Amino acid sequence: MSEKVFYITTPIYYVNDVPHLGHAYATLVADTLARYHRAAGYTTYFLTGTDEHGEKIWKVVQGLKETAQEYVNRISETGFQALWQRWGLSNDDFIRTTQPRHTQYVQKILQRIYDAGDIYHAEYEGLYSVGSERYVTEKELIESPDGLKRLPGDKDPPELRREANYFFKLEKYRPWLLEYLDAHPNLIDPPAYRREVIEMLREPIGDLSISRPVERLPWGIPIPWDDGHVTYVWFDALLNYVSALGGEGAAKFETFWPHAWNMIGKDILKTHSVFWLPMLKAAGLPLYEKLVVHAHILGTDGRKMGKSLGNAVDPIEMEQKHGVDALRYALLRETTFSADSSFSEEILVKRLNSDLANDLGNLLSRVLSMVEKYRGGVVPAPHEYSERELNIISSAKALPDTVLEEARGLRIHMAIEKSLEFVRDLNRYVAESKPWELARDESQAQRLDTVLYTLLEGLRVASVVLEPVLPNKMLELRQQLGLAGQTYPLESAWGLTPASTRTAIAGVLFPKVELEIKQELPVTEATAPVPAPDYIGIDDFMKIELRVALVTACERVPKADKLLNLTLSLGNETRTVLSGIAEHYAPEAVVGKRVVIVSNLAPRKMRGIDSQGMILAGDGENGAIKLLEPDASLPLGARIR
Ligand code: MSP
Repeated sequence: MSEKVFYITTPIYYVNDVPHLGHAYATLVADTLARYHRAAGYTTYFLTGTDEHGEKIWKVVQGLKETAQEYVNRISETGFQALWQRWGLSNDDFIRTTQPRHTQYVQKILQRIYDAGDIYHAEYEGLYSVGSERYVTEKELIESPDGLKRLPGDKDPPELRREANYFFKLEKYRPWLLEYLDAHPNLIDPPAYRREVIEMLREPIGDLSISRPVERLPWGIPIPWDDGHVTYVWFDALLNYVSALGGEGAAKFETFWPHAWNMIGKDILKTHSVFWLPMLKAAGLPLYEKLVVHAHILGTDGRKMGKSLGNAVDPIEMEQKHGVDALRYALLRETTFSADSSFSEEILVKRLNSDLANDLGNLLSRVLSMVEKYRGGVVPAPHEYSERELNIISSAKALPDTVLEEARGLRIHMAIEKSLEFVRDLNRYVAESKPWELARDESQAQRLDTVLYTLLEGLRVASVVLEPVLPNKMLELRQQLGLAGQTYPLESAWGLTPASTRTAIAGVLFPKVELEIKQELPVTEATAPVPAPDYIGIDDFMKIELRVALVTACERVPKADKLLNLTLSLGNETRTVLSGIAEHYAPEAVVGKRVVIVSNLAPRKMRGIDSQGMILAGDGENGAIKLLEPDASLPLGARIR
């Protein structure tokens, strides 16, 4: 679509709990996508909000002195809205499903679909999950260790219920939906989730219960033609994405709805595809442009984060200890949309220290102190650029388009990695151009000007491409560059730092953090004396050429369950390497990783593809294979010895 309009939504969050890392993650991803688009000139609208009706919430309220409305007001306002405000998120609106603008719209759509004959009344018996607030099928359940069957992710098993409810004729839309998905291959992204939805639609899906009798559940939106029933949760909640825009005819709806990206976690894929698309169709509304689906964040024990498992990271605690930008950065750099990712404070601190403090923060302070020392804190004008500088300039100019493309392709981690790669290149340029030597030689004064200008302007470009991820810190960085209050669009540019600007050194941008890690020492068993190994000499070892590489692309090898086909960058060389890790890593999860390869291994043809090297990985716990990831400051192609 050529029109530059972008509408991004988060799921609206249940108010039965205060915000946890899943909520924080989803909201930060959406905020970052909104910022990339806004900066790139898209007319952008970003919506988030709270989901306030239903049984789950009604149950919580029962034990409290507050009314349901008072309770949801409190959690929505002081839990969610206040947090997003404190974090400076850029949402344009915050929708609550108890607001009249929403309840009235839901009633209007219910009436419309009822009048069209797609809603009927019937007795129903089925398994109901309160955790997921919907009826479930036997097929969706899995057996837990206690022998009971549950929906994945649910705490309690579903309950058998028999009730007279209103139903939406969902099954009727199944053939249409399959056809629609077939004709719109990019509707659900990443594509693996689209395949999952198509799979769900292979067999009858039944009709959808959309109401409950008021005497069972009073906490919902009254059905307009029957005050004995309320609608609740999904029929109610999904419509928030449209009600917040004012519905059909409203200017915001007309501008933004055709460009909607509904972003969700994979656990609510079914409701946002199998339920939501037929609902829109039945209401005569256009469908969303894209359903964006992300995977889950796991604890370091590899299980989905949860308070009861003791592996949960509290986002508020992380923000208070390390700042919201560090939390944003680490979450977005460490996760991919297609595969679950682990997260912990240790992971956050590692990223903070290596990428932010070392690579970016140190570069800023080195450059600023050289400008201070050699040029009295005044930005010099550049003179003739050498080939090396022209190279940096062309990378800098290409970067805005690259990061936007990665972000729109849902590879935010790659947008970040490519920005950091540019920063690391500036670090290498400092080492190569040795400004301290130039400063000792008066005849090199113009060279020194050019080097310092290239570094300062390079840092400005870095601040622009990283601003969607680090919105607060990049403003601080620009302040130190003497560019306070300046905003720059995400577009190709070089030379926007005016010569004669006064730099303004302030405190350290990202102070390094020491983290006390409780280490559990491996239990070693008393064993018989270990036989001497077959030693090799250093010459033998040096025959093996190990090098650092970046995975720039990766796909499965057709008809080979174990093999991934990886494209690697070694700095000035690209290679194809096949690796037997497909059962341990999704292709999307390895893109952006730095790896170590045996680069002088004789090429070998497998499945018709020439594999030019071997990636190093180790045996992890429980048969897992884990890639060896080198320190981020090592340049691509660096020899490991
Ligand atoms: N209220 C419904 C959504 C209605 S949208 C019309 C709901 N709310 S929720 O509060 O339970 O979850 C909101 C989002 O948080 C979901 O997209 C879910 O995927 C996400 N997360 C919850 N835990 C998560 C992780 N551990 N990791 C990443 N996101 C996860 O569902």
